[in-house]
Parts: sequence; C-alpha cells; structure tokens
Amino acid sequence: MTGVTLNQAIKRYGETQVIHGIDLEIEDGEFCVFVGPSGCGKSTLLRMIAGLEETTEGQVHIGAREVTHLDPAKRGVAMVFQTYALYPHMTVAENMGFGLRMNGVSKSEIEQKVQQASNILKLDQYLKRKPKALSGGQRQRVAIGRAIVRGPEVFLFDEPLSNLDAELRVEMRVEIARLHNEIGATMIYVTHDQVEAMTMADKIVVLRDGRIEQVGAPMDLYRDPDNRFVAGFIGSPAMNFLECEIADGKVSHPALGAPLEVAANVPAGLSKVTLGIRPEHIEVDRAGDTCTVDLTEALGGVSYSYLLTPNGDKLIVEERDDQRSRQGDKIGITARPDRAMLFDPETGQRFR
Ligand SMILES: Nc1ncnc2c1ncn2[C@@H]1O[C@H](COP(=O)(O)OP(=O)(O)O)[C@@H](O)[C@H]1O
Ligand SMILES: [Mg+2]
Repeated sequence: MTGVTLNQAIKRYGETQVIHGIDLEIEDGEFCVFVGPSGCGKSTLLRMIAGLEETTEGQVHIGAREVTHLDPAKRGVAMVFQTYALYPHMTVAENMGFGLRMNGVSKSEIEQKVQQASNILKLDQYLKRKPKALSGGQRQRVAIGRAIVRGPEVFLFDEPLSNLDAELRVEMRVEIARLHNEIGATMIYVTHDQVEAMTMADKIVVLRDGRIEQVGAPMDLYRDPDNRFVAGFIGSPAMNFLECEIADGKVSHPALGAPLEVAANVPAGLSKVTLGIRPEHIEVDRAGDTCTVDLTEALGGVSYSYLLTPNGDKLIVEERDDQRSRQGDKIGITARPDRAMLFDPETGQRFR
C-alpha cells in the first residue's frame, strides 16, 4: 500500500514562501498529474515528495511511513527528469543497471531486471548501443527503464516529454499510460500541458502560485470546474469568458440573442457576472448578425471560428462537418444554457 499524502506542506526559500500549505492524498496505484502554468510550484512539490527539496513545514507520507526528513534514497521512489542524464560512455543496458550495480546487486539479478524493463519498454534491440546512437524518444525510454529496474513503489516524472517533438510526445504519452497499466505502481507526473494531464491522469491536481486550485478526475474538472482559472486552464481551445449583465436571473451580452437563464446561485444585488461557455457549446445562428467571423481554422472534422462581438469581445466557436463559417461572415450565436457557467467577476469563484 503506497499512496502519497501531504499534510499542510510548506516550502520556503529564505523569506520567500513558494508552496503554501498543501493537503493532498494520492491513492495507491493512482496516476496523479500536477498541472499548472510555469512557476506555479509543480517541480518543487514533486521534489519535496522525492526528498530532493527539504519540506519547510508539514509532513510527507509515502505509504504508512512518514518520510518528511528521510534521505531520498530510502523513500522507495524513482524520478524521471526532462533531461535524460544518461552516461554517454555506457551502453543502454549499463545505464539502466548502473544504480543497482552501485548498490551491490548481483550481476545476474541486474541482468534479469534490465531484461524485464527493456521488454516492457521495447528496448531489447538497443541494449548494447550507446546513448548517442539513440533517438530522443529512445533515450527517454532508457531513463524510464533506469527508474523501473530500481523497482520503486512510487514513480515521479518531471515533464519527461518536454524535449521531444510533438509526434513523439503523443507516442510516449501512450507508452507511459501503458506502463502504468502494466506495473500498476503509483505515479506522479508533472506537466504544464493540460492535454497530457487530461489524457493520462486518473486524478489531476491543478496548481497556481503554490496553491491547489482543484483536484479531480479529468472529465470532472472539465465539466465541473470550481473557478475561472480551472475552467480556462482545462480544455483546448479554452473556455470563452464574457462579462455580462445579470437581471432577474438572466444574463445578457450583446453577442447573445435572448437573455440566457443559467442555473446558478448568484448573490442578490450583483449586476455583473462572468459567463463561461466552451466553444463546443455555442450554436451558430446563420440568420443572426451580431458577430463577425475574424478567422477560421479548419482541422478536418471540426473547425474553429474566431468571432468578434459587437462590443469587441472575442469568442471561439466550434463548428462541425460542412457548417463552417467564412472569414467576414456575419452570424448570430446562442449559448447552451445547460452547459454555461457563471463566475464571480472579482474572485473568479464559480456560482453553482
Ligand atoms: N532555489 C530557489 N530559490 C528561490 N525560489 C525558487 C527556487 N527554486 C524555485 N523557486 C521558485 O519557486 C516557484 C516554483 O518553482 P517550480 O516548482 O520550479 O515551478 P514549476 O515547476 O511549476 O514551473 C517559482 O516561483 C520559482 O521561482
Ligand atoms: Mg518545473
């Protein structure tokens, strides 16, 4: 049983606090993704779990053990970084087995573990090669292999795919997900890429400025965000936000047709709210003329039209099949009230 638990975890560098009291529970065998913009504290939090950064206050547990001040080597974790850091003069097999050799593990046991890992990672035919004779994706697989042979209870990944080109990133994403299915260990994966988070995670932790904004399964965050930050961060293209008037429980904006009735508890007396609506939840009304099509992107099955509203707001609308608008078209739009959300324009909190 090797989940990971953080209690009121705080990190300070001198006077500067960068992690502000994180409470988090990661279940045994879970694939948990830390996602958020650059500088939000993802790596710091991961390194606190690994023991590579001292936790200033609070506790870290791995399984039943408190490890807050334990040596990294004794925590039962293995980490994979963005840069592969392979030894250039060693073969793939030697690179993978190096950690075990340093720990005095027998030659036959190392061979067996390297074989097992190379099987899982499809590296069999490369075991005798040096890193310079491998592609970026293969090198990253060797780095993952090096983690696997150590048999950790928890795998920690810090943006492992950021150095790979787009196509390889998609391929490796699938492989890491498969690896998780195969070995079933707890994995914590850091990325700034919300698509990686959405496609790989059992559980996503959205971080901003050293605080948790929301924790949940990918589709729960997508459908039911707690605040404007999460709503805007998860999903691509991003959710549209429109500053609207609200009266008698109905929101109005110059781009929309009739005022929209959205089920949400908005405090009485508030006259402005932020309406959130995803591109796929807006319908184009060809008979209308409130919006101007500024640009269209046809991706094949779907197209995205970038609209300008009468008051200069911008909106993205998804269109399917042959329904595509053309640049310069005048169109109306309607938003699906059942998928629209309202946010506090000051705090960004969602009104539910
Ligand atoms: N050694 C350090 N001294 C002072 N501040 C640091 C140090 N390392 C990281 N930080 C700060 O901590 C914050 C979080 O950094 P980091 O965890 O690397 O973010 P992320 O991985 O999400 O991009 C940033 O504001 C960064 O400037
Ligand atoms: Mg980082």
